[in-house]
Amino acid sequence: MSKRYANIVGWGKYTPEQVLTNADLERMIDTTDEWIVKRTGIHERRIVSPTENTSDMAVAAARDALAIAEVRARDLGLIIVATSSPDYLTPPVSSQVQHALGARDVGAFTLVAGCAGFVYALTTAQQYISNGVCDNVLVIGVELLSRFIDWTDRSTCVLFGDGAGAVVLQVSDKPAGVLSSVLGSDGSGAEHLILPGGGTANPPTHETIDQGLHTLKMNGNQVFRFASRIIGKALRQVIQQAGLTSDDIDLFIPHQANLRIIESAARYVGFPEEKIFINIDRYGNTSAASIPIALVEAFEQGRAKVGDTLAFVAFGAGLSWAAAVVKVAERVKPIPFLHSRRKTPAWISAFNPLNTVVVKPLGTALRLMQVGFQLITTWFRRILRLS
Ligand code: ACO
Repeated sequence: MSKRYANIVGWGKYTPEQVLTNADLERMIDTTDEWIVKRTGIHERRIVSPTENTSDMAVAAARDALAIAEVRARDLGLIIVATSSPDYLTPPVSSQVQHALGARDVGAFTLVAGCAGFVYALTTAQQYISNGVCDNVLVIGVELLSRFIDWTDRSTCVLFGDGAGAVVLQVSDKPAGVLSSVLGSDGSGAEHLILPGGGTANPPTHETIDQGLHTLKMNGNQVFRFASRIIGKALRQVIQQAGLTSDDIDLFIPHQANLRIIESAARYVGFPEEKIFINIDRYGNTSAASIPIALVEAFEQGRAKVGDTLAFVAFGAGLSWAAAVVKVAERVKPIPFLHSRRKTPAWISAFNPLNTVVVKPLGTALRLMQVGFQLITTWFRRILRLS
């Protein structure tokens, strides 16, 4: 049986229309454009309208990804939504997205791993494909942190923005998709990036609201130190695991949290400036959505293309981190749908080179046809001789 890879064949993003600039923030809090740009690299970020929710952004990004992939929602094998800011604590936002897309009965789950969520989800999706469970998996990274931000806390509110990005992974027999991955977690630093209220530890009460426990608290210095220590190493490790060197990576797409952190990680593995994709200046930190949004822009700008090998690295709440080396390969056509929702006729599946289950029946059918043909020609000969 051919090895099954998970190729990226579709991508889409949604970034809200409303732009919040550093100049806008200067009017709201005690900060300056100069401080924000120097310390973070952010010039502006996007904020959703009051009528939009996380699921709306996820669905918009997913629709574009499905259209590019030419995959119908109902033909998906699985939907994974990476987010820390769902519409509700329960139901999972993944089911809302599944329903809104019309992906009838398709399995869906929400994955929570902070800003590293998208890379965790990508790696998970790849497992479902390479193990033969699914042929098409939709992976979405979406975040609506503006509703969990304390807009009077200048050390956090300048950093974050809203948005969504999505990819469709599809089975391929050519080496593609996640070639290697590194997933890590260190819960000893949990309190450095936390939304204390709303869960079982501090269920919502008047007191938790008065204490401001329902907004994101961050010890920026600690997160900064953790990120600087961990992500360069994770990046080097994941590139080595893929059997590659930094020269083999065509584009480095990091989590867009802080320009200084990105640059230090790039220096650590020796990426030149032209190999780093940066859009933090326009979107700020969109957490789990940051890498897929950057990936979509890289495709749109021609900086990522078929044949390229990409490196992703992310870090965030948990504390957690994730890195992956991803190859974008030529799309395999015709596309085999082994696990389509609608039952594929056996004769189509028989021509699917990845489906070894039907190879045997195909061989048997061909032999039967051969025997049948021989019988018919024998009868004809006899009839001709008799006449
Ligand atoms: N404007 C002006 N001054 C500010 C601002 C602001 N917006 N915010 C903080 N300051 C002040 C502080 O009060 C402090 O003043 P003081 O020296 O008088 O006390 C001074 O600037 C320096 O503050 P630091 O916190 O030491 O600044 P630092 O250089 O560390 O930058 C920052 C802060 C940008 C938050 C940085 O620590 C950082 O980027 N950390 C990483 C955050 C991150 O990436 N989080 C990602 C995870 S997201 C997720 O998973 C959801």
